[in-house]
Amino acid sequence: LIGDGRLARHLHHYLALVYREQPALAHDYPLMHWSRRTGDGALLEQLAATADTVLLAIRDSAIDSFVQAHPGLAGKRLVHFSGALTTPLAAGLHPLMTFGEQLYDLPLYQSIPFIGEEGRESLRTVLPFLPNPSFSIPSAERPYYHALCVLSGNFTVLLWQKLTRELRARYGIPQEATLPYLGQTARNLGHDPTTALTGPFQRGDLATIADNLRALEDDDFRGIYAAFVHACLASAAESPDLRPLLGT
Ligand SMILES: NC(=O)c1ccc[n+]([C@@H]2O[C@H](COP(=O)([O-])OP(=O)(O)OC[C@H]3O[C@@H](n4cnc5c(N)ncnc54)[C@H](OP(=O)(O)O)[C@@H]3O)[C@@H](O)[C@H]2O)c1
Repeated sequence: LIGDGRLARHLHHYLALVYREQPALAHDYPLMHWSRRTGDGALLEQLAATADTVLLAIRDSAIDSFVQAHPGLAGKRLVHFSGALTTPLAAGLHPLMTFGEQLYDLPLYQSIPFIGEEGRESLRTVLPFLPNPSFSIPSAERPYYHALCVLSGNFTVLLWQKLTRELRARYGIPQEATLPYLGQTARNLGHDPTTALTGPFQRGDLATIADNLRALEDDDFRGIYAAFVHACLASAAESPDLRPLLGT
């Protein structure tokens, strides 16, 4: 396992939890860990010499150059975890999850789907003892797939950060006050994404939408609200919960 960033820490912890439950696996699949912070090139070559598989949990832009710079990796089964990168040098296995500062528990790690590339290594061949859901998509689809992940996961975080920042700065409302709203939104989505939407878009309440846009006139996020109106109008015909926007 290469790297000591967020994903590497989580993968390391996940495997440690698995090995604690099933010690025989630690014998069958011994884990060696290297990062440029804690080891040098000579140590990497030494570890790589005994490894079958190298898990490259490093920055997307460093993956190709890292493989090319270390001849000891040639002939190994090389895997990276980027959702966006496609490279002949290593197969992509993207964990459909966000990995922050806090470590997670075993059931959560085991529930994370890994999205591979059709015709290349999958989670089942790389780490066959893990029970995680495993899917594969065509390599050419990865840019679109990853853009969807960023749109949904990262952009919602930016929107919730905006909410908590503005409520605190303008009205002194603490972050904890938003948590029930956030939690219920996530639960409603988990229950049924097609019925989770509420509010003026779901009601087709164009007057309130126009009011919201006016209220955001001097706000950097006005363009984001307007872009949502544009995108939702364009897809409303195929989305039952957005059809009221069209007055139908
Ligand atoms: N975090 C997530 O939520 C998430 C989710 C899905 C997939 N991923 C994927 O996981 C991979 C790692 O992301 P991350 O979030 O863990 O990033 P990160 O926290 O920024 O860590 C990046 C790691 O890459 C190392 N690195 C960067 N350049 C290097 C180089 N030239 N040689 C050796 N090591 C180098 C860094 O070492 P230094 O600390 O020494 O710079 C650090 O250990 C990426 O492919 C990312 O797309 C991440």
